Amino acid sequence: MGPVFVLLLLICVCNSEDSLTPAKPHSVGDRLISNGGIFALGFFSPKNSSANSYVGIWYHNIPERTYVWVANRDSPITGSSPGKFVLTTSSDLVLLDSKGSTLWTTMNNITTEATGAAAILLDSGNLVIRLPNGTDIWQSFHHPTDTILPNMSLQLSNNNNLSTHLVAWRAPDDPSTSDYSLGGDSSFQILVWNRTMPYWRRAALDGVLVFAMYQSKSGPIMSQTIVNRGGEFYLTYTVSDGSASMRMILHYTGMVKLLAWNSNSLSWDVFFERPGSSCDRYASCGPFGYCDATEAVATCKCLDGFESVGLDFSLGCQRKKEIRCGQGDSFITLLNMKTPDKFLYIRNRSFDQCAEECSRNCSCTAYAYANLSNLGVTVDQSRCLVWMGELVDTEKRGDGLGENLYLRIPSSSGICSLPTLLLIFCVGLPTKY
Ligand SMILES: *[C@@H]1O[C@H](CO)[C@@H](O)[C@H](O)[C@H]1NC(C)=O
Ligand SMILES: *[C@@H]1O[C@H](CO)[C@@H](O)[C@H](O)[C@H]1NC(C)=O
Ligand SMILES: *[C@@H]1O[C@H](CO)[C@@H](O)[C@H](O)[C@H]1NC(C)=O
Ligand SMILES: *[C@@H]1O[C@H](CO)[C@@H](O)[C@H](O)[C@H]1NC(C)=O
Ligand SMILES: *[C@@H]1O[C@H](CO)[C@@H](O)[C@H](O)[C@H]1NC(C)=O
Ligand SMILES: *[C@@H]1O[C@H](CO)[C@@H](O)[C@H](O)[C@H]1NC(C)=O
Ligand SMILES: *[C@@H]1O[C@H](CO)[C@@H](O)[C@H](O)[C@H]1NC(C)=O
Ligand SMILES: *[C@@H]1O[C@H](CO)[C@@H](O)[C@H](O)[C@H]1NC(C)=O
Ligand SMILES: *[C@@H]1O[C@H](CO)[C@@H](O)[C@H](O)[C@H]1NC(C)=O
Repeated sequence: MGPVFVLLLLICVCNSEDSLTPAKPHSVGDRLISNGGIFALGFFSPKNSSANSYVGIWYHNIPERTYVWVANRDSPITGSSPGKFVLTTSSDLVLLDSKGSTLWTTMNNITTEATGAAAILLDSGNLVIRLPNGTDIWQSFHHPTDTILPNMSLQLSNNNNLSTHLVAWRAPDDPSTSDYSLGGDSSFQILVWNRTMPYWRRAALDGVLVFAMYQSKSGPIMSQTIVNRGGEFYLTYTVSDGSASMRMILHYTGMVKLLAWNSNSLSWDVFFERPGSSCDRYASCGPFGYCDATEAVATCKCLDGFESVGLDFSLGCQRKKEIRCGQGDSFITLLNMKTPDKFLYIRNRSFDQCAEECSRNCSCTAYAYANLSNLGVTVDQSRCLVWMGELVDTEKRGDGLGENLYLRIPSSSGICSLPTLLLIFCVGLPTKY
């Protein structure tokens, strides 16, 4: 009995290897299991679409099958014929169908053969192609599908060509790319787009290092942080106990969700989702309107000095009283604001210079200032934003975070510089002329 048992054990060990080499291709039924048994990689068919199969990564230690990465999301293996997932001698991962056609491949363009590379599935959920000297020439973390895992980072600035957009699944059983994508724009913001239309936006970076912290019911704390690597900003998540069972996804509905595995209820707890209310959707309160999230039910309101144009906020708000530029107009400070979209970013300014930049230009409606020194910015720590014209997608945050927005308002005394009696008269003046 002894020798037979040992043989079986060996087979088991073989089936749960964490790496793939040119000598060991991967077929339907085979799996790579990360060293600590946290993630698995293999062929799968979504529940209700057994006709299509894919190569993907899922949690090996969580009973509810949850995919975190899919290689061939837009080119499934169709029908029942098996596919093969191989690492070529030129160090590329390739997925072939039964006829030998390439459905998906990495493109490392290494021309020299026999580098001795291996594809390894790590306990972080990252699939890497690693050279014998330890250099990773490709990693799935740089080619995300719809999920960000702890320690994975999403590039916010797009000054180089690393594409780190998340693209949602088309439906719960369909991993193909949908119209919803999430990524950084060129001005420190994170957006969710519905095709080319913004659907949700996170305010521009404001120098706060740890964006938000969430504590799951089972204990660990997940922090959303911004890291600066050589002048490029990345959004990343860390989990206090180092566990991998928290994830951020772009859901097939277009919502951003943060989830943590609850090992008591054996399900995913959602502890953050955006848009959180209808008023949290991009520009839903119209120009010069804002979403007041300090209310029990978030509601659209007009910024100070503005009134709504129509019965609802579809057209936004207009000034109650025109600005007479330079004639006593001033700025008020709105606290805890999510800064609006469509700003001009003016470099290398002090706070006073930023305020001056806005006040001297009559088209400037608002400004906001932050110091990015916390983000490890060394060259130009200033972040002066000014708005010329409309303010869209503004919010008064319910969580007390957010920053000061300095909004231009007409002179309270302007035409009626005067006594109390006259003031009553002023209030009654037509507000538009
Ligand atoms: C799969 O299909 C069944 C029957 O049509 C349905 O009840 C179930 O909700 C579907 N599952 C998913 C994940 O859509
Ligand atoms: C490899 O070559 C292809 C086609 O020329 C190109 O699209 C791809 O970016 C290259 N990959 C790398 C890692 O340079
Ligand atoms: C994330 O990185 C930290 C530090 O390198 C490590 O301790 C932790 O285990 C990692 N978490 C995951 C899920 O890989
Ligand atoms: C590892 O080997 C590759 C290819 O030979 C080389 O380009 C790279 O610089 C090496 N990395 C280190 C850390 O030695
Ligand atoms: C980005 O891609 C363009 C065109 O392919 C290329 O000209 C440019 O040098 C690339 N930039 C970086 C930083 O790699
Ligand atoms: C996304 O855009 C399409 C039109 O392109 C629209 O029908 C759909 O309702 C939008 N989705 C959301 C969630 O607003
Ligand atoms: C920033 O502005 C100061 C003067 O306000 C100037 O001396 C300095 O050269 C500027 N730095 C850059 C990087 O433009
Ligand atoms: C005010 O700003 C606008 C938009 O940037 C610009 O076109 C205009 O020249 C500026 N006016 C002054 C007086 O600086
Ligand atoms: C930002 O803050 C740091 C530390 O408080 C300070 O040294 C620096 O001068 C500030 N920079 C700007 C542009 O305000």
